[in-house]
Amino acid sequence: MPPDAGSGDTKRIMAQIIDGNRIAAKVIEEVAGKSGNFLGEHGRVPGLAVILVGEDPASAVYVRMKIRDCARCGIESFSYTLPERTTTGELLDLVGALNRDDRVDGLLVQLPLPATIDTRSVLDAIDPAKDVDGFHPANVGRLVRGDKHVLLPCTPSGVVRLLDDSGVEPRGMRAVVVGRSDLVGKPTALLLLNRHATVTICHSRTRDLPQVCRTADILVAAVGKPFLIQEDWVREGVVIIDIGINSIGPDDAPRFLLEDPKRVADFERKGYTLVGDVSPAAAVKAGLITPVPGGVGPMTRALLMENTLKAAEWRKNPPGVPK
Ligand code: GUN
Repeated sequence: MPPDAGSGDTKRIMAQIIDGNRIAAKVIEEVAGKSGNFLGEHGRVPGLAVILVGEDPASAVYVRMKIRDCARCGIESFSYTLPERTTTGELLDLVGALNRDDRVDGLLVQLPLPATIDTRSVLDAIDPAKDVDGFHPANVGRLVRGDKHVLLPCTPSGVVRLLDDSGVEPRGMRAVVVGRSDLVGKPTALLLLNRHATVTICHSRTRDLPQVCRTADILVAAVGKPFLIQEDWVREGVVIIDIGINSIGPDDAPRFLLEDPKRVADFERKGYTLVGDVSPAAAVKAGLITPVPGGVGPMTRALLMENTLKAAEWRKNPPGVPK
């Protein structure tokens, strides 16, 4: 049973938190063990190449965390930082070289790329067998078909792993995914569909969005708008997966910090704080909810490590090909 938040007549049942940090730590530990086995079998550790173009501070932080995760997992990292003025051709040359480099099992180009670069042609150039982001059309197609052996995008597969670990079985449930991005919303909806949920995808043109959200047994918020999901948008007991990671700076603080002492302290320490797409008033109505931070974010990173190991193993022993 979820813990009781109040007392007397105004008792309120508080949402149970899905602890992404705990579940991600378990994944990381498993990957570390298996990459040790990989070294024993193949004489080298799995390798991940990460390319960062330009100087976007948030992207630089994400890339640093990915490199640190590699070290924790016994995965060799190859980090490339290219200047903002890099051309599409130069980036394609590097991707080609890393496709051919046998030490590299996984290859990731940090997004967003500078506007001058043709992102689609870069993602299409990554060897699908090394595409640990799951963004290559071949892997997207395999996801659509529900293939078993596929490199899945990390955030969506992290979402499903959180549900599994929390004992939520999507089969037959009504899932509403708010946000239709190629990287997060669409693949999350497909994974839930593959797990036999009845899925609705909502977006900026959806009519009466609150009403559609109220139909959800599982509500996935993947928009990037702080506190978009309001109290009267959700049913009591809904499972909420909050994928939004919104940085709240001094201008927005009065609107979004409310009176949450933990957030206020975090903001005062760092000068910004992170909030999700789900308002605190909606969150307390949930039966289960992922926090921001500490929910989906750590899972995305852990699943990148798992994908790198998977890519390394599959490159050595292609699935479906007898040894
Ligand atoms: N930028 C934000 N999220 C991601 C991600 O999952 N992969 C890549 N490559 N870039 C990102």
